[in-house]
This record gives sequence, C-alpha cells and structure tokens, in this order.
Amino acid sequence: MILGGGGHARVLIDVLRVSGTAEPWAILDSDSLLWGSDVLGVRVRGGDDLLQAIADEGASAFVIGVGGTGDNTPRRRLFELALSFRLVPLTARHPSATCSAYCEIGAGSVVFPGAIVNAGAVIGRNVIINTGAIVEHDCVVGDHAHIATGARLASTVRVGAAAHVGAGSTIRQCITIGEAAIVGAGAAVVSNVEPHAVVVGVPARTLGVRRNG
Ligand SMILES: CC(C)(COP(=O)(O)OP(=O)(O)OC[C@H]1O[C@@H](n2cnc3c(N)ncnc32)[C@H](O)[C@@H]1OP(=O)(O)O)[C@@H](O)C(=O)NCCC(=O)NCCS
Repeated sequence: MILGGGGHARVLIDVLRVSGTAEPWAILDSDSLLWGSDVLGVRVRGGDDLLQAIADEGASAFVIGVGGTGDNTPRRRLFELALSFRLVPLTARHPSATCSAYCEIGAGSVVFPGAIVNAGAVIGRNVIINTGAIVEHDCVVGDHAHIATGARLASTVRVGAAAHVGAGSTIRQCITIGEAAIVGAGAAVVSNVEPHAVVVGVPARTLGVRRNG
C-alpha cells in the first residue's frame, strides 16, 4: 500500500511498476477529497484508519507516497505508523537510476529516475533521492531525508535525519546538514547547516530556524 496520494505518489507508482518492485494494491490519504479517486489506476481507499483493514486484505508492504518541499515530519510519522502495523517498507529504484554496488540504501527509500548514488554512500530509511539528484561517494543521508530534484551532494556530505536538500542545490564536500534543516532550492552550501535551520542563496545564508511537526 502507498501512504499518500499526491503527485509524488504518481512518480512512485511508475517507479514501482517499471522496476518490477511491486504492484500497488491501495492508497491511503488523509485528504477526504481524494477518497474514491484513482491515481494511475490505484484506488485511494480512505485515510490511515484503514491501515489494518488493508493489511487484512493481504497487503504486507508499504511505501510512503508523500513528497514535500521542506517539512519531512509527515513522512516520518507515516513511516513509523506503518511500521507499528508490522508492515514491511519497500525499497525501490527506477531502472534509469545508477546506484553503486558499493552503496547502501535503507528500507523504504526510493531512488527516482536519473538519480546517481555513488560508491560508499549510505542512505538511511524512508529517504527520497528525487529525480536527477546526485549523492556522491561516502555521503551519509539520514532517515526520512529528502534529496530533492536535481540536488547535488559532493563527496562525504552528511545529511541529518528528516532534512530537506532543496531542488537544484549544491552542497560542498565534507559539509554537515543538521537534522530537519532545510536547504532552499538553488542554494550553494559551503558551510555546515545547524539542525532546523533554513538556508538559502549562493553562498547559502540562514533565513531562520523552523521547528516542524
Ligand atoms: C527555502 C524555502 C523553504 C523558504 O520557504 P518560505 O519560508 O516559505 O520562504 P518565503 O517564500 O516566504 O521567502 C522568504 C524570503 O526568502 C527568499 N527565498 C525563499 N526561498 C529562496 C530560495 N530558494 N533561494 C533564495 N531566496 C529564497 C524569498 O525571496 C524571500 O525573500 P524576501 O524576504 O527578501 O522577500 C523555500 O523557498 C524552498 O526553496 N523550498 C525548497 C523547495 C524544493 O526543494 N522543492 C522541490 C521538491 S522536489
């Protein structure tokens, strides 16, 4: 089952199918306006309260279908909720993505079309490596983080849990991005980013501190 039925879920369903990982059985989404609709032929059955019912139908695995532009708290919450129902997190990658035989990709993480994860990189659980993103060698990406479309992590970057690395941003080698920090779209990060900080620009400067969730 897929938790979340928005635009990110559409790409995810495509990735699951074209990679032969799984055929989605049902989508759950808290937005009642979506209930009863189809996303690429997969029915949005209802909200999270149906998790047990869908599991009872035989769906044993899940993947988080929620994307995002900064706050990864909802993705973390849904992941932990599904685990509490003893569902198994699926890991999927598009056939056009390049993942080194010497990288690690955690349970429930997804690697979208054209992304590259190089040797020695360690990707945590429930991470999104979005379309065309590059994770260079020896980077470590924490659980629930989102490396957005076209973002580039130079070598040995550390990204904290639930951090968001914005679309098209570039992170210099050996930088640490703190837990739940947000790097704005297009930023060039050349110094460490504190946990929960929001940074933007070239070179990146701090816009503020945000405690999500
Ligand atoms: C950084 C970000 C989270 C800030 O969002 P926000 O708090 O709503 O900020 P606002 O849009 O209110 O902008 C606040 C100020 O920061 C500036 N700003 C916002 N995002 C910026 C960015 N990415 N680069 C440079 N400046 C930016 C705005 O111009 C504005 O400046 P001003 O006060 O001088 O007018 C957001 O703009 C962003 O870039 N999110 C990432 C999006 C992304 O990665 N999407 C891809 C998903 S796959």
